[in-house]
Amino acid sequence: MNSPTSVWLNCKAATMQAGSVQPYGLIEDAALVVNGSVLQWVGPRRDLSADLLANNTQTIDAKGALITPGLIDCHTHLVYGGNRAGEFEQRLNGASYEDIAKAGGGIASTVKATRNATELELASQSTHRLLSLLAEGVTTIEIKSGYGLALEHERKMLRVARSLGAAHPVSVQTTFLGAHAVPPEFADRSDDYVDAVLDMLALLHIEGLVDAVDAFCERIGFSLAQTERIFAAAKLQGLPIKLHAEQLSDSGGAQLAARYHAISCDHLEWLSDDGVQAMALAGTTAVLLPGAFYFLRETRLPPVAKLRSAGVAMAISSDCNPGSSPCTSLLLMLNMACTLFRLTPEESLAGVTRNAARALGLNDRGVLAPGLRADFVLWDVKSPAELSYAFGSCPRTQTVFNGAVL
Ligand code: NIG
Ligand code: FE
Repeated sequence: MNSPTSVWLNCKAATMQAGSVQPYGLIEDAALVVNGSVLQWVGPRRDLSADLLANNTQTIDAKGALITPGLIDCHTHLVYGGNRAGEFEQRLNGASYEDIAKAGGGIASTVKATRNATELELASQSTHRLLSLLAEGVTTIEIKSGYGLALEHERKMLRVARSLGAAHPVSVQTTFLGAHAVPPEFADRSDDYVDAVLDMLALLHIEGLVDAVDAFCERIGFSLAQTERIFAAAKLQGLPIKLHAEQLSDSGGAQLAARYHAISCDHLEWLSDDGVQAMALAGTTAVLLPGAFYFLRETRLPPVAKLRSAGVAMAISSDCNPGSSPCTSLLLMLNMACTLFRLTPEESLAGVTRNAARALGLNDRGVLAPGLRADFVLWDVKSPAELSYAFGSCPRTQTVFNGAVL
């Protein structure tokens, strides 16, 4: 039996296809044909062939909506226990993010709360955050581990991430971030902890819980040499590599990641010219995180103009996490990428669609094109720039996930 086909009419489509002559790959009077879970055809309505229409079982009136690809939040730490509002207060009383981390707070305090939470508790806290993102049209989300820092707790986080994907209309990509911080039981023995990270990675990968590997290469995280050990192991296991790089200082992590053909380097406020070139050569995507920049009141901007002129693809993400970006709005990140980082609205939208897919190594989504997943969002706006322009509101009217209308 043929899978059900539907055709969406009376809409504009921001296809976000690369190299399109029209900004946003915009098609003014568009038609989209969905066959099962796949987008079978997209183009100007006048080009919709009669036989495509004849086979159709259903015509859907999009009521003048703008249709974009489903949004992709490509860097989150969505699963965690507790919160860090107390540290927010401490920072407002003069302490810095690094001071707090060095004094045993920061990531370590979320580790404590995450270890103390059951799988059920973690899932329920994380579901609230996930639902906010889904309400804004997110159809794919990456979720990192990294607040467990011991086998059973990293496993628990990744299992919760997978369970969220099974329970909700969203595709979840998991990233193992065992090298997020050195846990207290390994204090002053960070190399021994890296050994433990490698053991955890091997086991969790066998259990099918790991889609990619990440590390925090930073003076309050892991050294270049330690990061390289993790990359080497990931490479051996055929896992894609990502990196928290040059967030608080220029440690050369981006160049190292590029040597390992990382799919993305994330944060990048302190990225050097060499780092930009290395990423350009390796085709590594830059993931910019305006929420963390804003919330930590950073003043050093990521080198957007240099990334742009070197042709490095730029993605945008929420970095949803309790310490540096307690944010569950990807639309707000579009606005902040424009206002704080000076991306254009078109670059911002590409940052949560086409380039976010790249940052996850996924080539079956992120643009509206035949043969790709039927993940798309209907918006009550006249032009795609409105998605970056307004903040604090959500003009989404409908989401289609894997061909299913939600
Ligand atoms: O992406 N930089 C490291 N990791 C997170 C923050 C983690 C935390 O403070 O809990 C980030 O900013
Ligand atoms: Fe992060």
